[in-house]
Amino acid sequence: MIVVFVEKGIIMTGKTIRSSAGKNIDVKEIYSVLRTKFISQNIKYYREIDSTNEEAKRNAVECDGTLFIADVQTNGRGRLGRTWDSAAYDGIWMSLLLKPETKPENIPLITLVAGVAVCRVIKGAKIKWPNDIVIGSRKLCGILTEKTKSADGSDVVICGIGINVNTEAFSDELSDKATSLYIETGNIFKREKIISEIMNEFESLYTAFLENGFGTIREYYCKECVTLNKEVKVIYNNTEIIGNAVDVDEEGRLVVDTSNGKMTVNSGEVSVRGMYGYI
Ligand code: BTN
Repeated sequence: MIVVFVEKGIIMTGKTIRSSAGKNIDVKEIYSVLRTKFISQNIKYYREIDSTNEEAKRNAVECDGTLFIADVQTNGRGRLGRTWDSAAYDGIWMSLLLKPETKPENIPLITLVAGVAVCRVIKGAKIKWPNDIVIGSRKLCGILTEKTKSADGSDVVICGIGINVNTEAFSDELSDKATSLYIETGNIFKREKIISEIMNEFESLYTAFLENGFGTIREYYCKECVTLNKEVKVIYNNTEIIGNAVDVDEEGRLVVDTSNGKMTVNSGEVSVRGMYGYI
């Protein structure tokens, strides 16, 4: 485990390795820390690519667990059609190609599994339901899970993870919403070790999830979820619903207590905002 933060937000280690800023990812270093059986045992590394999610889709014939990583994405994509800033060397831009034997309705939950894996490595990071990883009130990491078909017609899942690691500053537009490990700690982090540790965590959580469902990680997810016990605004199809977020259920849905009773919200095309800001 990489201890980046202690629980109460006080800055901890994360070794200061300034010489690693501005370097290309070293795939050998990733393998040296990896303890997985299949997740990221096959790594496709690019100095520059449009989007690792797109590249994974184009290469859906690769084996289950293949990891696509790039130093820079020229067309990084986020949820709900947004763009994802992916400057060179600043972050971890990676996508896992997965071929799960599971019901289609379980596929969006892979996002939640990935979120837990990130939080288990970056201590002090929390989850804003469904798929934003935050520190304090700013976003550190986003996860974009998409589906495609492989040549034989079977479902293939792409789980893209973007983490702001060594970003020194964000544009005016993003600076009050986004953060990085560097901004939080003043330290430059080696991306390779963070990648390997997340892959190690992901494999064990994902395997448990495929065998026994979301229930196996739900408790941990809820413990790390900052959306719970907050007044939220759920926005979908130009409709806004306000209520208290009271639970994340066995299907990974957010349970919101509204003036019309409890409703459950699927993670699909919705946006959830705190009533008093982003969280
Ligand atoms: C979001 O919060 O909106 C999701 C952001 C996901 C960004 C990652 S970076 C690696 C992968 N490739 C992409 O184009 N997007 C995802």
